[in-house]
Amino acid sequence: MTNRDPRTFHVRSFGCQMNVYDGERMAELLEGEGMRAAAQGAEADLVVLNTCHIREKATEKVYSEIGRLRRPDGSRPMIAVAGCVAQAEGEEIARRARVDVVVGPQAYHNLPGLVAKAAAGGLALDTGMPALSKFGALPARRRQAPTAFLTVQEGCDKFCTYCVVPYTRGAEASRPWQAVLDEAASLVDGGAKEIILLGQNVNAWRGEDGRGLDDLIRALDALPGLRRIRYTTSHPNDMTDGLIRAHGEVGKLMPYLHLPVQSGSDRLLKAMNRRHTAASYLEIIDRVRAVRPDIAISGDFIVGFPGESEADFAATLSIVRAVNYAQAFSFKYSARPGTPATAMDGQVPAELMDERLQRLQELLNAQQLAFNEAMVGKRTSVLLERPGKRAGQLVGKSPWLQSVHLETDASIGEIAEVEIVSAGPNSLAGRACPAAFPGEGRAPVLPSAPPDPGLRRGTADAKAA
Ligand code: 5AD
Ligand code: SF4
Repeated sequence: MTNRDPRTFHVRSFGCQMNVYDGERMAELLEGEGMRAAAQGAEADLVVLNTCHIREKATEKVYSEIGRLRRPDGSRPMIAVAGCVAQAEGEEIARRARVDVVVGPQAYHNLPGLVAKAAAGGLALDTGMPALSKFGALPARRRQAPTAFLTVQEGCDKFCTYCVVPYTRGAEASRPWQAVLDEAASLVDGGAKEIILLGQNVNAWRGEDGRGLDDLIRALDALPGLRRIRYTTSHPNDMTDGLIRAHGEVGKLMPYLHLPVQSGSDRLLKAMNRRHTAASYLEIIDRVRAVRPDIAISGDFIVGFPGESEADFAATLSIVRAVNYAQAFSFKYSARPGTPATAMDGQVPAELMDERLQRLQELLNAQQLAFNEAMVGKRTSVLLERPGKRAGQLVGKSPWLQSVHLETDASIGEIAEVEIVSAGPNSLAGRACPAAFPGEGRAPVLPSAPPDPGLRRGTADAKAA
């Protein structure tokens, strides 16, 4: 089949925030070619499925998305499969389904050329992995929402034994200092009030001259017009002294740290090749809280990693109690093709994983609710991001990344002073306050759980039952 030259496009991103960033950049690239965004996938001439491979059923989901793109008259748009599934299984997908373009996460700057090639007939495929070269080929950022993502680092050298990222995103690579600052400046010019620095190991970012993420954060802090800075995702072993200090010193750096631990059992952390222990993780949390006592800690957890015993799982519950998370993401272990963990003994039955995930999430949800409830009656600042469901209502974020709903005359992009009136598990409701609020993010010090002294002595290592 020969496709017509597509005039409209739709990008659908799955998975992590970096995929959202990549999706935005692909849209900018296509708009730069004179194409227009279509509201609905089925209406578009070109649909980009920006896929995620991190957990289960990723490939099946791509096939079902492709199937859904068939229109009532039997025709279908041009289909480009991008992202990590394209990188890992693109050729197989192209064999099994009718797709026009396959493009990996390091090659999407070539998307316009691939689309043109596909329009002339046949499959256009590029899964080359030249680290970071795409950034030089992407157009300038356009008008921004109040919150903007900015990828500063990609790839991973950690090789956790369950994870596909080192294979789909490649080795750790950092964008140069000036390229990051230039993109940040254009985001702020375009209206961004908050920048979220992204990387698979964002705190492993290194400048050409050895500067670290903390130096980058301090440089962004000096950008007039920028009000808030966040970063995600971090590995515990890359939490440098300088970065920890920045949490106590940099005014625009928000009091929130996403620091995945995955498990509280040292035996499993070793099998996962995490290269840290439960005690070393807790020590980092202590140090961050020493400089920023109200910091919201968030984490990622995997239950049912091969060999996980009840004692290992109990160690995970203990570390959760010791940290007291404000937010968390927890997953059932999913065997990823080509990763070492798939060949390990002791694969955990699905029912047991379900049961453990439920127990873990009950604890995490209770902590999240308690964290939110501690805000009731307090005043805080809210960056207004989008309209709410009701007329006159806007939704924004507190410094601790809680969603806050309020009625206000203020506009999207402004930082409002708000009194929190009620709290639920996933959001807060607030009332706009008249007076100006000084010290963004410096308001209430939220309670944290008393530490479990046993864990701090390094006894979190669950002796396998
Ligand atoms: N199975 C389950 N969860 C996984 N994650 C990464 N790989 C897997 C896997 N194979 C989770 C980790 C990571 C988050 C992004 O996804 O918790 O921190
Ligand atoms: Fe995956 Fe581990 Fe790298 Fe995170 S640090 S991307 S979990 S290999």
